[in-house]
Amino acid sequence: MDISSILQGGYQHPLSRQWQGRRTLTKSMLMYPIFITDDPEASVEIKTLPGQRRWGVNKLESFLGPLVKKGLKSVILFGVPFKCEKDGKGTPADDPKGPVIQAIRKLRSLFPDLYIACDVCLCEYTSHGHCGVLNDDGTINIEPSVARIAEVALNYAKAGAHCVAPSDMMDGRIKAIKRALIDAGYGNRCTLMSYSAKFASSLYGPFREAAGSAPAFGDRKCYQLPPTAKGLARRAIQRDVTEGADIIMVKPSLPYLDIIADAAQLAPDHPLACYQVSGEYAMVCAGADAGVYDLRVMAFETVESMIRAGATLILSYFTPQFLDWLEA
Ligand code: PBG
Ligand code: ZN
Repeated sequence: MDISSILQGGYQHPLSRQWQGRRTLTKSMLMYPIFITDDPEASVEIKTLPGQRRWGVNKLESFLGPLVKKGLKSVILFGVPFKCEKDGKGTPADDPKGPVIQAIRKLRSLFPDLYIACDVCLCEYTSHGHCGVLNDDGTINIEPSVARIAEVALNYAKAGAHCVAPSDMMDGRIKAIKRALIDAGYGNRCTLMSYSAKFASSLYGPFREAAGSAPAFGDRKCYQLPPTAKGLARRAIQRDVTEGADIIMVKPSLPYLDIIADAAQLAPDHPLACYQVSGEYAMVCAGADAGVYDLRVMAFETVESMIRAGATLILSYFTPQFLDWLEA
């Protein structure tokens, strides 16, 4: 056999197998999405997201304390209000007594070293369940949408969020949020992570059930990207870089690894996040339950594919398990 034909000599040992990866998964690369509801004592199972719950503010210490001890570094908060009056512009989103602002304050005092990101969107708080403000005919009204999203983001920053992450996909919101943060003196105190390339995916189902955020009519196709749209995704990434995003995100992850790779090339000087969304998590769990593969091996394989594609930060519901698995 020819000398240059032999590759197996390079990965014959567990250690040399590890050296084949340019980067390996570490605990600090994981951000854990958590659902906060407005009953302070809540701990409610979410059926379609095995192992995940909706939490009340008073439960956060016992829920997250052990994870922080195991090396949890960051969380991203999603508000799930039930007791509020939803309206056309999502007034409850930044209610000072609402679950997100209460949770930010609580987590800052409980866990001073924990990095707290907040998803910013209106769909959990609007009567119609869409991510922006609507015109009378049901289409998106961009300017008031962007203004409202920026206002909510700023209020999360003021409450102590280290990072605001708009997932609404309204054009121009990155620039508006960055401007609002700077003008209020938070430009240097709050990170702006953009859900830049967010596709209209069937993988958000469990999340919408968990967050009660399914649209009352229509769908999100006029603001989330068509799954075929590589070009639009590339343009959105480039736009958000020029509008002042500090971190770029691609979402979902596994069916969009090519977009992650594109983002790594288009924004090589930014951290690159990807969101292993609710449906991806549910899929990996379901396959393991069906005996198709071992859960742990498959969870690593999925996340490692994202790292290989170029991601440096991964939002994953597997975070608690990875904290255990990475211990060994
Ligand atoms: C809301 C939002 C969604 C997700 C994050 N923020 C759902 C949607 O756009 O309908 C999905 C996350 C997941 O599925 O885990 N803007
Ligand atoms: Zn939304």
